Amino acid sequence: MKIAITGKGGVGKTTLVASLALLYSRQGYKVLAIDADPDANLASGLGIADTSSIRAVSELKDLILERTKAGPSGFFKLNPRVDDIPERFSIRKENIRLMVLGGIKKGGGGCICPENALLKALVQHLIVYRKEWVILDMEAGIEHLGRGTAQSVDYLIIVVEPGKRSIETAYRIRKLAGDLNLNKVLVVANKIRTPRDKELLQSALHEFRIVGWLPYDDQVIEAEQENKPAYEIGGPFQDEIEEISKALLNVL
Ligand SMILES: Nc1ncnc2c1ncn2[C@@H]1O[C@H](COP(=O)(O)OP(=O)(O)OP(=O)(O)O)[C@@H](O)[C@H]1O
Ligand SMILES: [Mg+2]
Repeated sequence: MKIAITGKGGVGKTTLVASLALLYSRQGYKVLAIDADPDANLASGLGIADTSSIRAVSELKDLILERTKAGPSGFFKLNPRVDDIPERFSIRKENIRLMVLGGIKKGGGGCICPENALLKALVQHLIVYRKEWVILDMEAGIEHLGRGTAQSVDYLIIVVEPGKRSIETAYRIRKLAGDLNLNKVLVVANKIRTPRDKELLQSALHEFRIVGWLPYDDQVIEAEQENKPAYEIGGPFQDEIEEISKALLNVL
């Protein structure tokens, strides 16, 4: 299963990615958890305290040069070898390998630089060829998914919270996804406090398939402060993560 998770800033993408990764890992699946947010913090979402050994792939200058054969001529390979990168540049927790991609450079005039070529090839490798389950934590867009890659994503999950802005973002992301022929879009609602929150989202997002309703829970924030994964707080939050995981399998 290949899932990409996106949504407006702060809605709970990293919390959801980490929770699903831990749950599937504990069910015995091998999971590649990919932090594709330039402001990376999936490691802490997974409760990994020591992040000193994690290096973002986009910062691996020597590797990028070696693989893309970028030189003074300005030419470089668009299909560099990447299949060994997940093993070499990831850290493990349980059955999860965490890899941090780092930022995609936004050059002017549609420039493609060696860093982007490598990241693009890597994301394609992860989504199209890996046997493990892959869960991507993205920013509020789908920049990492190219045309060929997007169609191999089983689900794009947009996280929303009860509020107009994250709903607007959901529609914008769906439009971007549609442009890449990625139509398998699901929504997970997060930070639900009242029945009114749920009604608001249900009516604003009636065009979307909503596969989960995560409650607002102060313990999620307390867990974060203690460097514990939100998934481990138990209670209704954990129950709903389990429901979402089942729904994802069923929809597949
Ligand atoms: N269900 C919830 N109840 C209470 N707090 C939550 C819940 N889900 C997430 N949070 C809190 O909201 C904040 C944002 O969550 P998270 O980092 O997962 O969002 P994000 O979408 O990944 O953010 P960013 O866009 O910055 O990457 C965190 O402090 C997290 O602990
Ligand atoms: Mg995040």
